[in-house]
Amino acid sequence: MNAGRLIAFEGLDGSGKSTQLERLAARLRDAGCDVVTTCEPTTLPSGQRIREMARSDQPLAPEEELRWFVEDRRVHVAEVIAPALRAGQIVLTDRYYLSTVAYQGARGLDYEQILADSQEEFPIPILVLLLEIDPQIAFERVHARGSEIEGVFERREFLSRVASVFDALDCTYLERVPGDGALNQIEAIIAERVSVRLGLDLG
Ligand code: TYD
Repeated sequence: MNAGRLIAFEGLDGSGKSTQLERLAARLRDAGCDVVTTCEPTTLPSGQRIREMARSDQPLAPEEELRWFVEDRRVHVAEVIAPALRAGQIVLTDRYYLSTVAYQGARGLDYEQILADSQEEFPIPILVLLLEIDPQIAFERVHARGSEIEGVFERREFLSRVASVFDALDCTYLERVPGDGALNQIEAIIAERVSVRLGLDLG
């Protein structure tokens, strides 16, 4: 499928993806683009059960967890992403298959296999913006949000392993953005990268 207008944000929990996604959406809309914003895990039933699982203290086996995320993505692509792309909209998603590669890879699964399978099955984004922050900072930010429960995906050591998989990735559509600068600076870097990939001028 032509996924020329699909852009994903990736990074550790607390890396600022959601904020930057909203800022990019606003810039694109100001430039006259028709933009859809979405996220994974989704807000659909398949995503809600993942959130519940993540908050519980009984993690699934990695293979089962992988199945849940892939299933949620199948629904997401079928019901949200593919129709929007067909309609010519620009889709910005907060997390996509590189999250599965990094997080379920960090749980011990073969991340290269997950990447190959994902690229085979799902629309490949024109650009993935990976917001890079130190895992220690990610851990502190997540806990500063006041979440009382330390979810299975948010433990300090686990986040370091996730970061290592992200570090190892080398995809033509993946661009790394320093996530620890001022919000306006990060926003400007992202606008510049998107302008180049989409052939727009987001000033
Ligand atoms: P997150 O983006 O933090 O959702 P929210 O902040 O809206 O609750 O995602 C929840 C967790 O799910 C996050 O720690 C990363 C993890 N995750 C995976 O392990 N694999 C995946 O494929 C995806 C999409 C997310």
